[in-house]
Amino acid sequence: MRIGVLTGGGDAPGLNPAIAGIVEKASVYGYSIIGLKRGWEALSIEDNRNHIVELGPEIIREYSRLGGSKLLCSRTNPVSEKNDRTDLVIKNVKKLKLDALIAIGGDDTLGAGAVLAERGLQVVGIPKTIDRDLAGTEYSLGYDTALNVITECAEKIAHSAESHQTIFFLEVMGRHAGWLALRGGEAAFADIILIPEYEFTLDKLASVIQAKLDFSSKLGFDHRYKIIIVSEGAHIAGEEEVRKDAKIDEFGHYSLGGVGNYLKGLMEHRFSHTRYSALTYLQRGAPPSQKDRQAGRRFGNNAVELIRNGDTGYMVSVLRSKHTKVPLSEIKNSPSLVDVDKYYDTDKLNVKLKWVDREY
Ligand code: F6P
Repeated sequence: MRIGVLTGGGDAPGLNPAIAGIVEKASVYGYSIIGLKRGWEALSIEDNRNHIVELGPEIIREYSRLGGSKLLCSRTNPVSEKNDRTDLVIKNVKKLKLDALIAIGGDDTLGAGAVLAERGLQVVGIPKTIDRDLAGTEYSLGYDTALNVITECAEKIAHSAESHQTIFFLEVMGRHAGWLALRGGEAAFADIILIPEYEFTLDKLASVIQAKLDFSSKLGFDHRYKIIIVSEGAHIAGEEEVRKDAKIDEFGHYSLGGVGNYLKGLMEHRFSHTRYSALTYLQRGAPPSQKDRQAGRRFGNNAVELIRNGDTGYMVSVLRSKHTKVPLSEIKNSPSLVDVDKYYDTDKLNVKLKWVDREY
């Protein structure tokens, strides 16, 4: 059996451990693993000689501990309406004598996998995105490491914020989902958390900051600094999200970025010392956490197991804390966004302080 493996979309910590987990299980069964470089690009071009690499058990030790993707990533969409390369992908799969494919990625990469599965390819998906917004799974690779980076950086920023008594806007990723901001901000005990799922007004933001400062005054002068975690997709009521630039990728997405700076600019005349920082790609660049290594390994093992059992057309996933599988087509269902009623305090612009039963 020959299985092709690719990583698509943005890089995320956990991709390499997942590849290691695939190779580990494949070597138990004597299967060959063929690495396909730069996501779907490897199968969407005629001359892909430089995109192909055979992966044996010797890679496991190194891959198990590395962030990013040793197979490289791209946002190539082989099934886009404008440039549909499905036939070429199928031709390449035959040429490379691949019996099955394992695609590791988010909704775009796995969505393309679902379309190709409908066209007859044997595809299994592994969920990856730091945004934690995929339908059909409670966990996606990269989320835990990114949360750890956010928590650690908020702590670092707090040193500067305290020293200068600053209102500090710290922007984090997440696209249209507020999970990274909400759970990173929760762990960092952020003073305010702004998420895309709740549109706020400037007056509201200013009054919550002021209320926080008034409360701090009672604690003493040294406490007059505030940490505001802003999700890149958070926006003022009636306004659009702040875009990083005008570019649109092959899946039709624009890039977000800059809302933290925008809000800082709007608030600096109301509060004396304001600062802004964005974590951007640092969130994706750390070595994978214990959780991402373990989940990557298990997802990789399970993906090979599915192929062995003839269960293709599925994504390995975690539901109700159990490793399981869901049809790949589920990836196109509504994304998992923060349930504001359940988890967000719209008065305090922060995480709801109540008993949380299951969601992490
Ligand atoms: O989906 C993961 C993510 O990191 C988002 O949080 C962010 O908006 C986007 O990717 C950035 O994409 P790019 O790597 O193309 O700049």
